[in-house]
Amino acid sequence: MAKDKTGKKPAAGKPADPKTAARSGKASAPVLTRFGVIPPSSRDIKRIGVLTGGGDCPGLNGVIRAVVKTAVEVYRWEAVGFEDGFEGMIMPGKHRPLDPEAVSGILYRGGTILGSTNRGNPFAFPVTKNGKTEPMDCSGNVLDAYRRLGLDCLLVIGGDGTLKIAERLMKERGLKVVGVPKTIDNDLSATDQTFGFDTAVRTATEAIDKLHTTAESHHRIMFVEVMGRDAGWIALMAGMAGGAHAILIPEIPYNITKLIEKIRQREELGHKSSIVVVAEGARPVGGGVSFIRSANPPFDLVRLGGAAQRVADEIERLTGRETRVTVLGHIQRGGTPTSFDRNLATRFGVAAVHAAARGDSGHMVALRGTEIVTVPLAKAVGRQKFVDPQGELVYSARAVGVDFCSPDSSGCGG
Ligand code: F6P
Repeated sequence: MAKDKTGKKPAAGKPADPKTAARSGKASAPVLTRFGVIPPSSRDIKRIGVLTGGGDCPGLNGVIRAVVKTAVEVYRWEAVGFEDGFEGMIMPGKHRPLDPEAVSGILYRGGTILGSTNRGNPFAFPVTKNGKTEPMDCSGNVLDAYRRLGLDCLLVIGGDGTLKIAERLMKERGLKVVGVPKTIDNDLSATDQTFGFDTAVRTATEAIDKLHTTAESHHRIMFVEVMGRDAGWIALMAGMAGGAHAILIPEIPYNITKLIEKIRQREELGHKSSIVVVAEGARPVGGGVSFIRSANPPFDLVRLGGAAQRVADEIERLTGRETRVTVLGHIQRGGTPTSFDRNLATRFGVAAVHAAARGDSGHMVALRGTEIVTVPLAKAVGRQKFVDPQGELVYSARAVGVDFCSPDSSGCGG
């Protein structure tokens, strides 16, 4: 890794100190260009690969675009894109060269031009023989593709599961990898925020805004189910922004009696309608999550769903009040990324290429405060970030009357 004149590694988004390059005339010295400084280690790289794995999210195309533009235009490398995650490295004919023209006009588009899958773990790749699907270790095929295509680094854009695979490929198969974290769930502890989250929150907030008016017209209790798996970030942030009256999140198991109390208190104040945001992973005290399909390891995780309907049914049964349920589902994953997500995606993509250029294999780019940094994958994967029930966000929401329906709360704002 290139060091600056202070002996420190440069920040992830920045190359080394220009003055060092200018002073030193040696062949191995960083080269000053109109883009900044090119670290000497970058000259060992001729070609990089890029793929997107796991569930899609708005902003993936922004990362791909930034990776390709930086790799080709700043470093003069070649870039190869793999289709449908690691599957593109295992199956023949699923890769293609990427140049700036190939990534032109995609910044504002949701999804991923490379395609993605959450069933493509090369260490447990689904192979069907005689009508039976079994997991097979195809990580050797990934290494073969890496060597055959002359890659010097693989940029892996994915959530926790995909980044774990990237780390394993580095440790067990010797690939050079740099990770870029994505998920609408915002539940990766190593980064302050993932791209895609802001867009999902905007989508959910818009839906809540719209439900307010129809709820008021019909004097109904409206429930909105949002994604997030085991974390309540989307529910909390969209619920707060949308002026929800109660928010049920996985981190604070709910008590249905508390929700009934909240609805009654609102009625006493003359409000005949209420909006309740329910995270898909929300569960009652002492109860489990609601799911549509159980897990099918190693291929599929449990498919969550039904949390809002369960609460709505309970409210109708216990109070006789009319309820309606809106499940936002994959709408939260689609559509145009917000400007925040586009910029975070761009910064992550540029920083990932700089990390590869510096030889920072085994690292992931991350947002810390306002800075883009790199963190070792080993310290980043497998560590989820949850809403702190005692934290400032929950406190602020409670202060403005949001009820989390926690059993240990007394009255409004629990
Ligand atoms: O992790 C992102 C996420 O959208 C979760 O919020 C949700 O539970 C899950 O993916 C849905 O996955 P799938 O696309 O497999 O239905």
